[in-house]
Amino acid sequence: MYDRDRAIEILTKHLETEYLVRHSYAVEAVMRSLGKKFDPEREKLWAITGLLHDLDADLVDYRAHPELHGPRAIEILREEGFGDEVMYHAIMAHNKCTKTPIKSPLDRAIYAADPITGFINAITLVYPDKKIEKVKVKSITKRMHETRFAAGADREAMWSIEELGMDFRDFAELSLNAMKEISGELGL
Ligand SMILES: [Fe+2]
Repeated sequence: MYDRDRAIEILTKHLETEYLVRHSYAVEAVMRSLGKKFDPEREKLWAITGLLHDLDADLVDYRAHPELHGPRAIEILREEGFGDEVMYHAIMAHNKCTKTPIKSPLDRAIYAADPITGFINAITLVYPDKKIEKVKVKSITKRMHETRFAAGADREAMWSIEELGMDFRDFAELSLNAMKEISGELGL
């Protein structure tokens, strides 16, 4: 049902931009860890939702039609015969512009995991050798309050993990560790 090889096949067929593919792997890793914690029986669903959430990012003109980011991905997944309604709803809900309500812990998790990967990426690039192994949880919590740093990173979305009863600090630590595990794939 949530076959990773098939998901990667679909992803790489439709998404070509390298940093977006890397971002997809980063969100997958964070979502797998969150799934283990909040919904262990459906860990694969959480991971694959993370992997595929930006599937349509090369195909949709986000500036002109931000509301199509999500629906287009689901069209593709239906055509490919992959995924289910739970996954589709979470992919829709990760983009505010679709006006899809966040209903489940899975929806909340992808909404928060999406921006934190880019945020950790930006923090890593500040280090002289640009290596994620040097990044500390404290630099993430500190940078959250520096609004001019990575100004585009949606703080509100990242903080909202607390609605799952998880401290932001723990979320930062989980995300950092998940990304460190695949640092090679992420080029960090
Ligand atoms: Fe994303």
